Amino acid sequence: MGKNKPKFLQKPILQVLDGKMPESIPIWLMRQAGRYLPEYRKIRKQTTSFLDLCYTPELATEITLQPIRRFGFDAAILFSDILVLPDTLGQTVWFEEGIGPRLTPISPSEPLNPEALHQFNCNDNNKLKAVYEAIKNIRKELPDTCALIGFAGAPWTVATYMIEGGTSRSFEKVRHWSVVDPESFEDLMAVLVEATSRHLIAQIEAGVEVVQIFDSHSGVLDEEGFKKWIVAPTQKIIEKVQNRFPKTPIIGFPRGAGTNILSYIDQVKVQCVSLDQYVSCGWAAEHIQSVLPVQGNLDPIYLLSDMETLHGKIRSTLNYFCKNPYIFNLGHGVIKETDPKTVEFLVQTVRKFENH
Ligand code: CP3
Repeated sequence: MGKNKPKFLQKPILQVLDGKMPESIPIWLMRQAGRYLPEYRKIRKQTTSFLDLCYTPELATEITLQPIRRFGFDAAILFSDILVLPDTLGQTVWFEEGIGPRLTPISPSEPLNPEALHQFNCNDNNKLKAVYEAIKNIRKELPDTCALIGFAGAPWTVATYMIEGGTSRSFEKVRHWSVVDPESFEDLMAVLVEATSRHLIAQIEAGVEVVQIFDSHSGVLDEEGFKKWIVAPTQKIIEKVQNRFPKTPIIGFPRGAGTNILSYIDQVKVQCVSLDQYVSCGWAAEHIQSVLPVQGNLDPIYLLSDMETLHGKIRSTLNYFCKNPYIFNLGHGVIKETDPKTVEFLVQTVRKFENH
């Protein structure tokens, strides 16, 4: 890379998010910090609560950096969780071994404490202050070409956990509430829009260079619900964040959106959209990547297949997306049974790829 380029142009991910084509295709992976890494499992074993990891700056910093040291990704994603938001809004959140997140569910008759937002003062809350301190530490340690990504869950996805009380199969409670009592549901979404915006702004103030908004469960809504509870609240967050930080790129991840992704890219003013593996690469290159940079979308299950199959799949994904601004990623997070050696192979294959 040329020595005379301005510093901000040197990070390949930021170039892509600016609509440019860097010398090689940048790569990072969702859930790159986590249980498939023995060094993560070692730290995890010494802590009883997952959230304690998120709220201990030294540990969050160390875990964020682990995959960067091993694989040299082009971006680090802050080690934290989308559920720090309900936790700091006063809901009881815990993680159970083998089950995942658990929350004391809220409902129309037992809503969030109305004081919650008032008490949600990012820069005054000890738990969130620890998150922002981790960001400052991470920035000091990152290699020059590696960008730091902050994140939050989108209001709909966070609401699914708050209302279902954890992971859900059919999302009936949250869908029911949003349909039978849209006014009080809107009140909840308004609180989440405000809290999420403040949390993202505080992360940028602390030093993240990109933010990603995870809408992991956007696929359970119909077209009308998608516009009301995905598009509108996410766009409100983007307005608030961009009003304060117009230059910080935002990646949206409306997982499972299907054809609703077209209204998402039309109305949600993100700089890049992250694609799940359910969307066809050819269709996405033609209809999505022609409008804005994309990220994705290798099915994480291929990291558990043989190297030849994986290699073919990486090449075909690159062939679809290499002609326009593109960040290599998976369609969802790294599966915990993945061998770190396979991730190494993936990174090398993407780095070696030349399309001209
Ligand atoms: O490496 C990274 O991606 C950064 C850290 C990160 C975590 N969670 C750490 C984590 C990020 C960006 C998230 C986002 C997140 N959290 C999402 C959106 C993305 C997605 O996966 O759809 C969601 C829905 C959550 C909520 C959540 N947290 C669930 C459903 C679970 C249990 C399932 C699982 O994969 O374990 C978690 C726990 C969690 N978050 C772990 C990690 C490393 C595992 C915790 C453990 O060690 O036991």
